[in-house]
Amino acid sequence: MTTIEVPDGVRKIAESLDDVPAYVYDLAGLARHAAAVRVAMAGTEICYAVKANPDAEVLRVLAPYVDGFEVSSGGEFAHVRSVLPEVPLSFGGPGKTDAELALAPSAYRWHVESPAELRRMRAPADVLLRVNLDLPVTGAALTMGGGATPFGMDPGGIAECLALLGSSPVRLRGLHTHLASGLDAPDLLALAEAVLAYGRGLGLREFNLGGGMAVSYTRPHERFDWAAYGAGLRALARPGETLRVEPGRALTAYCGWYLTTVLDVKRVHGERFAVLSGGTHHLRTPVTKGHDQPFVVLPRGGGGEDGPVTLVGRLCTPKDVFARRVTASLAAGDVVAFAMAGAYAWNISHHDFLMHPKPEFHHLPAD
Ligand SMILES: Cc1ncc(COP(=O)(O)O)c(C=O)c1O
Repeated sequence: MTTIEVPDGVRKIAESLDDVPAYVYDLAGLARHAAAVRVAMAGTEICYAVKANPDAEVLRVLAPYVDGFEVSSGGEFAHVRSVLPEVPLSFGGPGKTDAELALAPSAYRWHVESPAELRRMRAPADVLLRVNLDLPVTGAALTMGGGATPFGMDPGGIAECLALLGSSPVRLRGLHTHLASGLDAPDLLALAEAVLAYGRGLGLREFNLGGGMAVSYTRPHERFDWAAYGAGLRALARPGETLRVEPGRALTAYCGWYLTTVLDVKRVHGERFAVLSGGTHHLRTPVTKGHDQPFVVLPRGGGGEDGPVTLVGRLCTPKDVFARRVTASLAAGDVVAFAMAGAYAWNISHHDFLMHPKPEFHHLPAD
């Protein structure tokens, strides 16, 4: 495993960690990263996808560096409004209740997912039609478009929406798309080019190109090439057009740490296991993505044995695994600090399974 730099504030919390795990958000690191992304993406609007991490402090730190926030439920909408009452909100998601549709007039942009949804809209609102073009999506970690999926509309659905606009109170602003997650800049640019060509053919000038910027959990030092993506989008944009992206994971993954103590180290049928006080009910990411979560062992004097080890939580399921047969030196009492736990981590996890204590949350202050 490559060495991962652990912020001093994370080390400090680890020193006094008891058996209740902790999440630590490095807000200074987040601010530095967001500022660099903002510069790289000059000319393109950035809308943070709140589903990646809705932590209130994280939202506050991101606010100066983004043009708005993307929410996907009435719950996220109300949450962001309570934290940042004035920020522009884009509302998307494949199924919307009547109560959610009533929020459309107060959203900055409303992402329409189907002709039936558009028919249900009874008040003026600024809408983008979410298109799912039949495009080859290669190299993605998660695919939400480029073929038959419940997300957005194919060109037939878009044509149906365009025909409905004459009798609808909504104002058509442009297109929205989010075809996949985990793509590198050249792949995202190729998709953007195709979406822009399609939208321009319909006479549209505003395009939300979605999120999905790649984050590598196996190469934690790597970063998505924001400079190449920003420059590529500036080259693609025509005068008078608005281009917007809505990244989640690639903005916040790196600011989060999940700390947990080693309760037991044992050998079973020749394999070594380290059983941790936490579990994937707090950090489900490695299970959902099928990777080894990058980590650093912070020794606390136990004198650990070196060699391959599988890091597990204490849930009664063989799926409660953070990392398999990774090389590490650890002993009971040490702290394992999992890195890259700032996106799709705590908020996608099944917290109440087995009723273990919830983690404590710490925020390392922004500079
Ligand atoms: C519509 C939409 N936009 C943006 C995102 C954010 O994607 P990512 O976190 O991969 O950048 C998602 C993720 O599922 C999404 O569904």
